[in-house]
Amino acid sequence: MDFSIKGCDWNKASQNGLLSGKSDCLVVGLFEGQTLSGAVHQVDLATKGLVTRLIKAGDIDGKSGTTLLLHEVHGIGAARVLLVGLGKQDKFNHKAFAEAARAAWRALNGTQVAQVVWTLAQLPVQERDASWAVRSSITTMRELAYKFTQMKSKPETKAAALKKAVISIDPADEKAAKIALKHAVALANGTDLTRDLGNLPANICTPTYLANTAKKMARDWKLKAEVLGQKQLEALKMGSFLSVTRGSVEPVQFIVLHYNGAGAKQAPVVLVGKGVTFDTGGISLKPGDSMDEMKFDMCGAASVLGTMRAIAEIGIKLNVIAVVPACENMPAGNATKPGDIVTSMSGLTIEVLNTDAEGRLILCDALTYVERFKPAAVIDVATLTGACVIALGHHNSGMYSTDDALAGELLDASKEAVDPIWRMPLDQEYHEQLKSNFADLANIGGRPGGSVTAACFLSRFTESYKWAHLDIAGTAWKSGAAKGATGRPVPLLTQFLVDRAA
Ligand code: BES
Ligand code: MN
Ligand code: ZN
Repeated sequence: MDFSIKGCDWNKASQNGLLSGKSDCLVVGLFEGQTLSGAVHQVDLATKGLVTRLIKAGDIDGKSGTTLLLHEVHGIGAARVLLVGLGKQDKFNHKAFAEAARAAWRALNGTQVAQVVWTLAQLPVQERDASWAVRSSITTMRELAYKFTQMKSKPETKAAALKKAVISIDPADEKAAKIALKHAVALANGTDLTRDLGNLPANICTPTYLANTAKKMARDWKLKAEVLGQKQLEALKMGSFLSVTRGSVEPVQFIVLHYNGAGAKQAPVVLVGKGVTFDTGGISLKPGDSMDEMKFDMCGAASVLGTMRAIAEIGIKLNVIAVVPACENMPAGNATKPGDIVTSMSGLTIEVLNTDAEGRLILCDALTYVERFKPAAVIDVATLTGACVIALGHHNSGMYSTDDALAGELLDASKEAVDPIWRMPLDQEYHEQLKSNFADLANIGGRPGGSVTAACFLSRFTESYKWAHLDIAGTAWKSGAAKGATGRPVPLLTQFLVDRAA
């Protein structure tokens, strides 16, 4: 899909050719119960009142989510016009915009339109600028266009007809819109990578597959990849991480991927992603129902790799390091058992009361490892707890931070990227639940506040830097008929890094 930007003042539309120029379809928005303005007004004038007549006839009323495709419209250059209902103008916020954009792209998908002129990014969206509307237009389209077909023996659906979109924008916004386009395409490419890695089955997307993906990214995007194996992790004394991989025959991988967008002196932002390529629960075996979905337990890893792909394509001026501890959590004769005590890289001893609370066991050693980078901030991303899904459902990712400024930055980026997060507590009182009779701490804190105590566990290993944790257990993938990875929180992380670099 090829996107481009074209400046257009609709009051002088005759001068720039968008109304008379040839295209397969002109996409214009229409507010409910309001005099026509902008692009739709010009279409109405050029067609001698066609839109007005259609409204009078009751064929379209501007209700949000509705569309009407018109063919052989006389008076304009485009072969078709797609009228898109926007709802009430005083309610036209980012959600209403995205809904209209989604309805429009869906309507186009059912046609043979190969090339469109898209005017919706010129609409006034509450609390958002033109750059946002350009990004939202593009990412909405790319989200709908995404298909995971790698594992099918033959393609199920024919290739999409739509190949090219010209996004019209007010001339004053043209420069910013071109940057927004580049960002949106890079973000969509990163998100697609994350979705692909998540959707791949665990017999293909192994720890080694993730390591190879990082190495390939390093070649393609001029990043630097290092991968540590069993021996090196033993030398580093990552006893907690290694206790999780014990029962697996797949070799453990510890992936470090560097993006150097700024001077060597600038402290990096470090992203740590949970890379459990399959979580059976280990000896604390999970129930069989939906266990297949535990192939998604590497979505944290996939999201930090996807974010690296996005920022490398944008070329942000910031140093960023992605760190992925990758392994499987399997039961076996030599697997870690409930009650086993392991020594983490930090020296803290951990009583493994439940082998299914493995995410924190691999992350704590990664969080100790990253101290060597003297990071400006560390953000870990993990499908960490079922309890987070109970607390927040599938809309907000859980966000924890010991640093209010960092939390604020993440909340701002979340709002801009429309990738919702909700800040959760880390009060000292919760730490009581992690006490162990035998070791420095236990790896579980009981059922109450299960997502909070998991975050508290991690916080014990992050005292030397600014840290935030994202629990994406409820947001990284969808279950049911639409089963598949969402690519979240790549939009949030990319926006956060872009904002930091600015
Ligand atoms: N990967 C799971 C968390 C998970 C479960 C995410 C279901 C999404 C859906 C994690 O490793 C896990 O098993 N956590 C346990 C922790 C418990 C044993 C304290 C959980 O949430 O049940
Ligand atoms: Mn688990
Ligand atoms: Zn897990």
